[in-house]
Amino acid sequence: MLFWRVKPLDKILETAEKKSLKRQLGAFQLTMLGIGAIIGTGIFVLTAEAGQKAGPAMMIAFVIAAIVCGLAALAYSELASMVPVAGSAYTYTYGVLGEAIAWIVGWALVLEYAVAAGAVSVGWSGYMNGLLTSAGLELPDALKSGPMDGGSFNLLAFCIALVVTGLLVIGTSKSAKVNAVLVLVKIVALTAFIFITVPAAQDANFQPFFPTGWGSPMGGVGVLGAAASIFFAYVGFDAVSTAAEETKNPNRNIPIGLIGSLAVCTVFYMLVSYGAVGAIGAQPMFNADGVAIHPGTPELAAACKGSEALVCSREPLAHVLKVMGFAGLGNLIGLAAAVALPSVILMMLYGQTRIFFTMSRDGLLPPILSKVHPKFHTPHVVTLITGGFVALFAALFPVGILADISNSGTLFAFMAVSLAVLILRKRDPNRPRPFRTPMVWLICPLAIAGCLLLFLNLSFYTLALFFGWAIVGLLVYRFYGYRHSDLGRGGAGSGSGPRIDPEPPFHEGPQA
Ligand code: ALA
Repeated sequence: MLFWRVKPLDKILETAEKKSLKRQLGAFQLTMLGIGAIIGTGIFVLTAEAGQKAGPAMMIAFVIAAIVCGLAALAYSELASMVPVAGSAYTYTYGVLGEAIAWIVGWALVLEYAVAAGAVSVGWSGYMNGLLTSAGLELPDALKSGPMDGGSFNLLAFCIALVVTGLLVIGTSKSAKVNAVLVLVKIVALTAFIFITVPAAQDANFQPFFPTGWGSPMGGVGVLGAAASIFFAYVGFDAVSTAAEETKNPNRNIPIGLIGSLAVCTVFYMLVSYGAVGAIGAQPMFNADGVAIHPGTPELAAACKGSEALVCSREPLAHVLKVMGFAGLGNLIGLAAAVALPSVILMMLYGQTRIFFTMSRDGLLPPILSKVHPKFHTPHVVTLITGGFVALFAALFPVGILADISNSGTLFAFMAVSLAVLILRKRDPNRPRPFRTPMVWLICPLAIAGCLLLFLNLSFYTLALFFGWAIVGLLVYRFYGYRHSDLGRGGAGSGSGPRIDPEPPFHEGPQA
């Protein structure tokens, strides 16, 4: 039966070529790792989108998204520590909920990782364009953004996605030292922003506080609509859970690293959004009928022409400082974003290629995708194909739309993982769990409910796209994956295909 083709967890672990990694990471390093993966386009760019959806009440959206993410993180970590192998949520669900659900989760993760890489590329281009303009090297408008956002082809977003793809093909990965420097750059930039803007906050800028209300299901606006979008700002914490194997005393340090990094980011996000709203205001742009215009539409691009509103900016944090008269500091914030965001693109693309690689090794995708480069030892074919698509999305779509689509996949995957944790507690209670979700029967159902709430508050178009994508995925599974599955054909799954070195998620190597 389709749904019950389950790959035994022992088999997954056996065939996953585990390299025993030194347990060297403590709570502090894990928190740094989390912050490095989390802070990116969400706070640097989507603040404008959140403002357009919720006005000053976007601050509440930041808190709601943080709580949902925290709950999901606690559930995610249990499976990540039990099955510390490549493929993340896809692999976990394969071992618990069966092949068909795992396929849908893997298919949804394409949205999470690949589309997120596109979103961060577009976010990066906003800041880079701002810097180029300040340096007198402005690109023509047509090349600054995609067709839905007032331009034709986002050249810089296209280029950065291709550059990062090239780095991944030659084997560049995350390094502890580079991560530490980038975390510092981001934290210094956000701290400076807070110190300049918070004291300048004026009460009048917070009025009206709730210009669009709470929002309604599938409406994609209001506080819940903003929370569903700004959820993107917290994604990336899974970098912490995937380091379980390398962590000293994971049962204590993983939750500290996860909750610690989410808490630090939440405090920063709250203060940054307070400062941005307080300093220059964040009222949405309304159409003639008094309805807030949806972000990432030609209508908003037209309404924003010549406007200095926060919600119209593609480099909102730099923009706030420029409007306040600190153009030089605005450019420094832009520089920090330009330096730091490519590493977030790299992590996302890396995650995507490893998921495709694992799915291909399991026989669910064509074997060409798990081909490994003889010299670089990287899955170059899948990296080049994925990177090419990411570059195209990035060139053509607005950041907010890409972030929302990515969130739909992430929220779905988190729901599946939280459910898998509960099922496994019942089915296999004695299996060793390096990290156990505390109060699991409360936390996991709350995580599922929270993710569902945000999922349903994405826009109708985002959800339609998600379900369309799922249907295409099911057809691919039915006509390809189901027939070629290594497990279905009596193999161990993952056992017979080519290999790449299992890469520690956080190493001391010299690479960028
Ligand atoms: N949280 C990451 C970002 O905001 C994905 O860019």
